[in-house]
Amino acid sequence: MTTVYIGMSADLLHPGHLNIIEQARQIGDEIIVGLLTDKAIASYKRLPYMSWEQRKIVVENVKGVTKVVAQETLDYVPNLLRIKPDYVLHGDDWKTGPQATTRQRIIEVMKQWGGKVIDIPYTEGISSTALNQALKRIGTTPAIRAMRLKRLIENKEIVTICEAHNGLSGLIVENAAVKENGKTTEFDGIWISSLTQSAAKAKPDIGYLDTSSRAEVLNDILETTTKPIIYDADSGGPTEHFVFTVRSLERLGVSAVIIEDKVGLKKNSLFGTEVEQTQDDISSFCEKIKAGHAARVTDTFMIIARIESLILNAGMDDAILRAKSYLEAGADGIMIHSRKADGEEIKEFCHLYNQLPNRKPLVVVPSSFNHMYEGELSDLGVNIVIYANQLLRAAYPAMMNVATSILSNHRAKEAAEEYCMKIQDIITLIPGSC
Ligand code: SPV
Ligand code: MG
Repeated sequence: MTTVYIGMSADLLHPGHLNIIEQARQIGDEIIVGLLTDKAIASYKRLPYMSWEQRKIVVENVKGVTKVVAQETLDYVPNLLRIKPDYVLHGDDWKTGPQATTRQRIIEVMKQWGGKVIDIPYTEGISSTALNQALKRIGTTPAIRAMRLKRLIENKEIVTICEAHNGLSGLIVENAAVKENGKTTEFDGIWISSLTQSAAKAKPDIGYLDTSSRAEVLNDILETTTKPIIYDADSGGPTEHFVFTVRSLERLGVSAVIIEDKVGLKKNSLFGTEVEQTQDDISSFCEKIKAGHAARVTDTFMIIARIESLILNAGMDDAILRAKSYLEAGADGIMIHSRKADGEEIKEFCHLYNQLPNRKPLVVVPSSFNHMYEGELSDLGVNIVIYANQLLRAAYPAMMNVATSILSNHRAKEAAEEYCMKIQDIITLIPGSC
């Protein structure tokens, strides 16, 4: 019996995949597909649209496929050593670029039992990247979008979320990507910040914008994006209001709401004790969490409790006691906030939090301790990092530079050449412009 091994993600199955399987049928009797797990895929690119189980059902029903096994890492070798196939088939696009070293390693390993690698000519005119872009244009549904946050938490070392405050910045969070060593890094989701949403409307971050006006902006962001959304609901307001907010957000396909344990006139946490801010008492905040829980329709929607003890100098013991209590009340995660630049209190909190028996996902917002890398936060046990305000903080000085350049030069040429994107680019930037 001749065994052929094919590694694939098969999220968007296209003729290129089918061609490789067809070629395998010509060579072998047993065709084993090593289907990359969600974790393996998320380690180098966007989480697949379909779960591993869904992709498995599709692939095992393709003509010629004998068996589908999980390939837990990008590295083929553990599966190859176990299966010892006669052939590995792959599109010949992997002969160059970052995958070339993977290919070479597989060739070496296969030599141990006389196995061979066969490169199949790449199917032109179709690619997963193009299909991905087409899917993005089609958009998503509230239920699919909402589910993605939990899937990301399960499958990534750390989930990265970036703030958007209007449709345009939503597009940036949706599309910004960098390629390094064969990996594509993108933000995983979007933060709907009270601070930047207020600032974009030139309003203070004091809870002045009501839910309807925030939902209007949120809708612009939903229209231009497909990534999961975490919504900053300040304190959630009175419990009687919070239950309506939960319903509205869940209906829109938001994945999670974060509420902070404060009462009274809302002030931005980064003021710390420089302004008057009052923390809620534990039992009434727990009641709010429970009411939010009872209001939601599905358990896909997460209610994350945000602890302000470190912001308000209430101490580490208070922070941990609150974490424990909020989790017992049913919070689906905890956000710990801090404005200390050295990150030491965050480290201490993480250490203590990880020992809680009912530990759930942990969220941090490193606006002050911004020297900390994602890898460091992930090692501390952090599950979600939120870049809460940087896009807006960058936009304001950029616009101010243009304004002052025009004023100084009495014309726009210098500003246009130095700071602005081309007119051609702005008129075509938005999908559907031409
Ligand atoms: C926000 O982005 O509005 C937040 C985070 O709540 S912070 O501004 O740090 O309080
Ligand atoms: Mg806020």
